[in-house]
Amino acid sequence: MHLNLAQVMNRFIYNKVFQKKTWMVLSLCCGLVLWPTITQLLPDKRILKPSKLKINLRYISPGKVLTINWRGIPIFIKNRTKSEIRSSRSIKLSELKDILARNDNLDVKTLAFDRNRCVDKSCANWLVLIASCSHLGCVPEVKDNGWYCTCHGSFYDNSGRIIHGPAPYNLRIPICKCKSNFMIIGK
Ligand code: FES
Repeated sequence: MHLNLAQVMNRFIYNKVFQKKTWMVLSLCCGLVLWPTITQLLPDKRILKPSKLKINLRYISPGKVLTINWRGIPIFIKNRTKSEIRSSRSIKLSELKDILARNDNLDVKTLAFDRNRCVDKSCANWLVLIASCSHLGCVPEVKDNGWYCTCHGSFYDNSGRIIHGPAPYNLRIPICKCKSNFMIIGK
């Protein structure tokens, strides 16, 4: 078949436009189908934007524990009494199952002395813990002498350090600081 120049041009334009349209429609369909999967794979916004939480400490009397929710994670804030601090400080490092402080405010190699577990040296009474058992993540129960995880029987002392049971690590301490009468968790 012999085509003149105009016909060749028409066919060329038609093919280009048709191909473009086809690709656009296909891309759109793929996008619509894949969008829910893509959004699920994206990191949680709470991880991308760590939020700060400010807690008024005035209402937590000595010996009491407040449980709060921070970015979907349960957190214990304990106002330790002098005798609780004393008994936690009497425990030797050699008696501990996990000798690392697990304190996000300090170097990873910091040892689990009680002084390295409290928020800072000037307020040794305040203890902030991520309330997730280091065994399988249950929320331990508050006890007079520490925390007890009823799931499989792990016991943590008043410093949140694992004393016995299957849990391998001390309860983690999140980024936090004490300012006037407030505890600021996160950064
Ligand atoms: S989850 Fe706490 S002891 Fe198993």
